[in-house]
Amino acid sequence: MTQNQNELENKLVVVAGGAGEIGERITRMFLQQGARVLVPSRSKAKLNALGDSLTDISTGELIPLETDVSTAQGLAALTAAISKAGVLRAAVSSVGTFWQGPSALEVPVGEVRRVFDETFFPYVGLTQALIPALGPDTHFIKLNGILSLQAVPHVSAFGVSATAQMAWTRSLIAEATESTPWITELVIDSLVRTRSLQTLPKEYISGDDIAQEILRIVAETNEHQIATMGKGPGDARIEFVPIRGQASENSVKRLFGSFQAKG
Ligand SMILES: NC(=O)c1ccc[n+]([C@@H]2O[C@H](COP(=O)([O-])OP(=O)(O)OC[C@H]3O[C@@H](n4cnc5c(N)ncnc54)[C@H](OP(=O)(O)O)[C@@H]3O)[C@@H](O)[C@H]2O)c1
Repeated sequence: MTQNQNELENKLVVVAGGAGEIGERITRMFLQQGARVLVPSRSKAKLNALGDSLTDISTGELIPLETDVSTAQGLAALTAAISKAGVLRAAVSSVGTFWQGPSALEVPVGEVRRVFDETFFPYVGLTQALIPALGPDTHFIKLNGILSLQAVPHVSAFGVSATAQMAWTRSLIAEATESTPWITELVIDSLVRTRSLQTLPKEYISGDDIAQEILRIVAETNEHQIATMGKGPGDARIEFVPIRGQASENSVKRLFGSFQAKG
């Protein structure tokens, strides 16, 4: 038994989106560590398929929960299930979807609203349910894509939500106290090799690579972080003009100075 296995043996973790493509690999990894893994999903069929895909693992315990974490009732059910199952050691959000469409000038406002509704607000709700359930020296890890940091054409509605999710994580980190968990936004910088994307060459990152990084973070890190991970050639011929995204220290000091100075 490894040190990591000792650490997570019988511990409760939540993997929201754990019945999804990457989530399944994260769920598998936690079970291999002997953890009790609570997986909410809107779909009983997906939970059953998840259970079937994990029958080769004899350690840990899968706790499936049919619920919709994008609704208040679903979040209440998740909170109740956590309270019943025990003390939470870590929570991962692998919730999300992808969108591609017309240019930013052509996409209907209603479509942007729909994508935002279906991707941003579920993340807000999840953080409000999961972070209070996590104590100090536990971990909250959220998956995101590089579109949260870099705009590219024809994914505007999705990119805006991914960026907003990143901003939400930054807000959580800005408001973190000694009793909140360590918060990580784990940004994946390419497509991921999953069961439905086996055409992606083996050089690229896989769900198992992400799961291993999550294990490392849970076992070893004690900081809030926005981390980027990726694997593969990175050799596409594209024009790229970086735009500085972060505020300078001077600007942040001026902002807080103006808050204080206004009286
Ligand atoms: N796949 C990639 O190439 C890639 C690359 C970079 C980043 N990522 C990020 O990695 C995460 C997981 O991606 P994935 O490929 O594993 O996605 P996936 O297979 O589609 O799984 C995502 C899960 O999110 C849940 N979900 C989506 N929309 C929801 C909503 N409106 N309300 C409630 N639950 C919702 C679904 O849960 P149910 O079980 O309830 O249906 C689903 O199982 C996402 O955050 C994605 O942005 C993925």
